[in-house]
Amino acid sequence: MSYNIFNGDCLKVLPTLDDESVDLTLTSPPYCIGKAYDVHTTIEGFLEINEPIIKEVYKKTKAGGSICWQVGHHVNKGEIIPLDFIVYEAFKRLCPDAKLRNRIVWHFEHGANCRNRFSGRHETILWFTKGDNYYFDLDSVRVKQKYPGKKYYQGNKKGEYSCNPLGKNPGDLWVIPNVKANHVEKTGHPCQFPIALAQRLVKSLSPNGGIVLDPFMGAGTTGAAAIMEGREFLGMELSESYFKIAKKRLVSAQNGTLQYREIDRPVFDPKKAGAVGRNPVIDEV
Ligand SMILES: C[S@@+](CC[C@H](N)C(=O)[O-])C[C@H]1O[C@@H](n2cnc3c(N)ncnc32)[C@H](O)[C@@H]1O
Repeated sequence: MSYNIFNGDCLKVLPTLDDESVDLTLTSPPYCIGKAYDVHTTIEGFLEINEPIIKEVYKKTKAGGSICWQVGHHVNKGEIIPLDFIVYEAFKRLCPDAKLRNRIVWHFEHGANCRNRFSGRHETILWFTKGDNYYFDLDSVRVKQKYPGKKYYQGNKKGEYSCNPLGKNPGDLWVIPNVKANHVEKTGHPCQFPIALAQRLVKSLSPNGGIVLDPFMGAGTTGAAAIMEGREFLGMELSESYFKIAKKRLVSAQNGTLQYREIDRPVFDPKKAGAVGRNPVIDEV
């Protein structure tokens, strides 16, 4: 599938797109916590960046289209502020017919070990639709049932499936490893989200051949997932070096050589695989 990407401020490019032309926006803005690409370090700065972009993205979204804003926490001197709270309020204030359909919790199991609070190991994705008559293909992202093929054994439904044979709804808690040092998808970008996360949203929230947008493209993860799933992609990235990374990944996605971690690949089990670092509790039993 084709893509169109721009190296520059998304606010300069978004107004040039046709209104009501985008099926799905999936993006993760800077959290304003002092990362290499952050220009602000306050919540006010976060809103200053996000508000005009939310307004533009909403304008460009088709009626029935979706917008997913993926965020974590803003941290200020050890105090955390959940950004989805701020984003939700901004959407409801700025976008007249935006309806929140899910607050998806992305749990990544590993990460920094905090000493003075519980380690933060989840972020969220706010999925908004433009209006009530929206595109949602649940069947494309169903997951394995606990007892696949289970049937009623008595009553008037005897012999029929007692669960959906296509699989179950994946729910709104997604356990997917984040992209850290040894991850097969790791690039020079400090904060990529995994392709598997983007793939599930692209498949379920945009039609085949539809247009997927990411105004904060980073290393191009949304774009890679969009191309792999047969959608058109539009992306913008301010930094030249991240833009180059994204461009390379999109070419690999297009020619089928991009390495990625499938969503249903089991997480590494050190006990089964022969541990490098030994777990004292597991090793004793
Ligand atoms: C959290 S990262 C996105 C990472 C991305 N989801 C991925 O998987 O690689 C946010 C990105 O937005 C870019 N950015 C910040 N302000 C921007 C703007 N006004 N226009 C375009 N890109 C911007 C930053 O350079 C950074 O790469």
